[in-house]
Amino acid sequence: MDDLMRLFVENVSYSYPDGTSALSNIHLKVKKAAFVGLLGANGSGKTTLLRTMDGLVKDFEGSVYLDGKDIRELTPKQIYKKIGLVFQNPDDQLFASTLFEDVAFGPLNMGFNKDEVNRRVMTAIEEVELTGLEKKSVHNLSYGQRKRACIAGLLAMGHEILFLDEPTAGLDPMGEYKMMNLLKKLNKENGVTIVMATHSVDLVPVFLDELHILSGGKITRGGTPEEVFHAPEDMADIKLRLPHIAELIYRLKHEDKVDFERIPLTIGEARREILKSLDTSLKGR
Ligand SMILES: Nc1ncnc2c1ncn2[C@@H]1O[C@H](COP(=O)(O)OP(=O)(O)OP(=O)(O)O)[C@@H](O)[C@H]1O
Ligand SMILES: [Mg+2]
Repeated sequence: MDDLMRLFVENVSYSYPDGTSALSNIHLKVKKAAFVGLLGANGSGKTTLLRTMDGLVKDFEGSVYLDGKDIRELTPKQIYKKIGLVFQNPDDQLFASTLFEDVAFGPLNMGFNKDEVNRRVMTAIEEVELTGLEKKSVHNLSYGQRKRACIAGLLAMGHEILFLDEPTAGLDPMGEYKMMNLLKKLNKENGVTIVMATHSVDLVPVFLDELHILSGGKITRGGTPEEVFHAPEDMADIKLRLPHIAELIYRLKHEDKVDFERIPLTIGEARREILKSLDTSLKGR
């Protein structure tokens, strides 16, 4: 197996005990230091896939390999040493009484001394901008603060691979951007491999290198955001939409016949394309 491959999901299918088919014939490769998005509508199988790759779902068909080893043959300890999973619902993850104690739980269990635990906890809390709330009960934090507290808990442990289930859900617009920038920094500067489930189509092209669309438990397409985002009609089929800016340019091009060479996915690209198009039409006068 390729040395750079950290996770390899080979033809995985899974049905819950009540008979619901949640994953079918999933193939996915996650390379070292990749920043991968799993994009899909509600119920498309994102959480189930993350749980399967984290060894929490075991009775699936097919295979999942972590660094070349069959995940079903690894102990939970061996898996959690490498992979940190941030749950979709923060209340499934937070349990200690104060924010400090919650974030400290992981590093304490890893056997670090008091000073190192303290340093890790304070740095992680600072990274998610919750400084000053260390003594507050986790139950009294707001939803967005609880989401960020969960991520701090993982940051304090310093995993090589992070799975994040809807990390930006419930965050305000600035919080979403800050969270994505933090994840991007972890990925680009620290080389953390990140797999993130989301349905925030507008954030994806700005931050992610690679994405896979999940629909009805199947991966229907994958690649760079440019390769994956097609016409609005294709996105509606899978209960998603194009990023707003792409939709606007798509309509201008196809319905109003404005001359655009390509469909941009971000505001920055759209600005360049619009200026280019204006320049061409002014020259044509
Ligand atoms: N514990 C469970 N028992 C039975 N069916 C389940 C269970 N958990 C999820 N499912 C079903 O499996 C399918 C995939 O669910 P999953 O939670 O993986 O989707 P998701 O893409 O994470 O959705 P969301 O965006 O709402 O979080 C859905 O049809 C769901 O109803
Ligand atoms: Mg989910």
